[in-house]
Amino acid sequence: MPARKIIIDTDPGQDDAVAILLALSSPEEIEVLGLTTVAGNVPLDLTTRNARIVCELAGRTDIGVYAGCDRPLGRNLVTAEHVHGKTGLDGPKLPEPTMEIAPEHAVEFIIETLREQPAGTVTLCPLGPLTNIATALQKAPDIAEKLQEIVLMGGAYFEVGNITPTAEFNIYVDPEAADIVFKSGIKITVMPLDVTHKALVTKERNDAFRALGTPVGVAVAEMTDFFERFDKEKYGSAGAPLHDPCVTAYLLKPELFSGRHINVEIETTSELTLGMTVADWWVVTDRKPNATFIGDIDAEGFFALLTERLARL
Ligand code: BDR
Ligand code: CA
Repeated sequence: MPARKIIIDTDPGQDDAVAILLALSSPEEIEVLGLTTVAGNVPLDLTTRNARIVCELAGRTDIGVYAGCDRPLGRNLVTAEHVHGKTGLDGPKLPEPTMEIAPEHAVEFIIETLREQPAGTVTLCPLGPLTNIATALQKAPDIAEKLQEIVLMGGAYFEVGNITPTAEFNIYVDPEAADIVFKSGIKITVMPLDVTHKALVTKERNDAFRALGTPVGVAVAEMTDFFERFDKEKYGSAGAPLHDPCVTAYLLKPELFSGRHINVEIETTSELTLGMTVADWWVVTDRKPNATFIGDIDAEGFFALLTERLARL
């Protein structure tokens, strides 16, 4: 089988970084056409810096990093330094990047790249707010037919919210963008908090990253060391949830995941529940299914895959 072509749209973030490293470690299965950055966990200049740091860590300075939207479609940017630290990638001491930022805007890159590809052949992997993706779909609706699928991290049903009582961060930051994507009719697979909160870096799993003894293994261990303090304090969980790597792991081994094909709508008006993913998990409405909403993961299999692949870098 030829490698699956993907564009990763990202706001690194330690967990974004691990998701990107997993994709770059698996060139037989995944061809990364480019990384597009968006404002989210930290402002755009930092997410673009961090994406280049990750490419350099992986020895992949050939990958284009395209800077995208610096704010949500119609709102002020909300960031998450309280989780990811001041730089968004706090934890390991990694050198400032020297690779150039690609000259094109991320949205233009997405549109032009998709237009060059045959129909139904590219997968978009959004790991942050959906601003770039929604903007591209609004500017160039013809690109929808080029997509095989969108596999994204965002939302929650049973876990409800992590940035407000009812909203997950990526969807909350730009609910209007999320609404456009979920109404697009494109095949969508969603990794909500319901599954990512089961992908926890326990001490043993973190030790396994560090024991790789490589710059990548040690950096990933130090990233999750930093990232875990927030969830341990807040939820009393066993370690850091690897939200975004669920997306790239799904491309490699979908059999590790299970979920339901259901209707998912985005709340865009209520002050109280803004950004909520209203997921009809129990099929109590007759609203048309528009997304596969993942609920469970084989966490042992996921960490075995991740550790084995990171060892290749
Ligand atoms: C999501 O928000 C960000 O903080 C993480 O990188 C992840 O994409 C989890 O809610
Ligand atoms: Ca992210």
